[in-house]
Amino acid sequence: MLTQEQTLRFVFKPLLLLACLAPFLHLAAGAAGLGGMSLGANPVESVLHGLGKWGLNFLLVTLCITPLRQITGWVHWMRFRRMLGLTAFFYLLGHFAFYLVVDRGLDLRVLAEDVIARPYITVGLAGLLLLVPLAATSTRASMRRLGRRWQALHRLVYPAAILGCVHYYWQVKADVREPLVYFTVLGALLGWRWWKHRQRLSRAAPAGRSRQIRFLPSLAAARGQQDGRQDERATRGRPRGHRLAQ
Ligand code: HEM
Repeated sequence: MLTQEQTLRFVFKPLLLLACLAPFLHLAAGAAGLGGMSLGANPVESVLHGLGKWGLNFLLVTLCITPLRQITGWVHWMRFRRMLGLTAFFYLLGHFAFYLVVDRGLDLRVLAEDVIARPYITVGLAGLLLLVPLAATSTRASMRRLGRRWQALHRLVYPAAILGCVHYYWQVKADVREPLVYFTVLGALLGWRWWKHRQRLSRAAPAGRSRQIRFLPSLAAARGQQDGRQDERATRGRPRGHRLAQ
């Protein structure tokens, strides 16, 4: 009988790795013509779009992990976050590399012209660049080294995902329904975080106030003020209490 740790390590993680690689293997099989598979009439476009789409898919799936943990209470969802995030980066780096090498013949001058002339390329590149420090600091050692700054740095994933969706929306020629679905999903994921953040703040407020109340009698005595409401006003200027009361 496997323990929970062994199940996570030897069953769930390998299965997830397989799921992460499946779209890539599917594209590779199409490119190689394995088992009668093909990339269709425009193979360059199929690979470029496939890598971009899967990169964005995995980015949004990565953003689902925290809400899933909060909703289900199962903390082990977090064990899958790094693999999903790195998979998103792998596909998006491939998307960029494919565009640069195959579509643009590795001509950096042409790339620079595209960045200037096509806003969707500028936005896509900005999104990808934001993901670079996240991938570079995804190790446990970086997490330990950066401490609280790691969390702050990894909030870059939000603007990166927004830029990714804008990039997708902008490059679509006519039917924008699919990019709008991506925007809706991203909006729901960011909205959830915002709502949770507000909840945390309002939970912190009563705690902050009760701390103030405990502190008030001595302050009141020192000032000769017995009225609690006056005392509360008197402490409002204190930065710590003020912050907690928000
Ligand atoms: C966060 C980064 C990025 C994301 C999430 C992303 C995602 C996407 C998506 C979803 C598509 C459309 C796929 C489809 O229609 O099925 C796409 C297309 C494309 N992307 Fe990106 N991309 C990113 C960065 C980049 C970068 C850095 C470049 C190049 C410098 C780039 C170049 C392109 C091109 C040329 C297309 C096809 C446009 C067309 O067919 O007219 N992308 N991308």
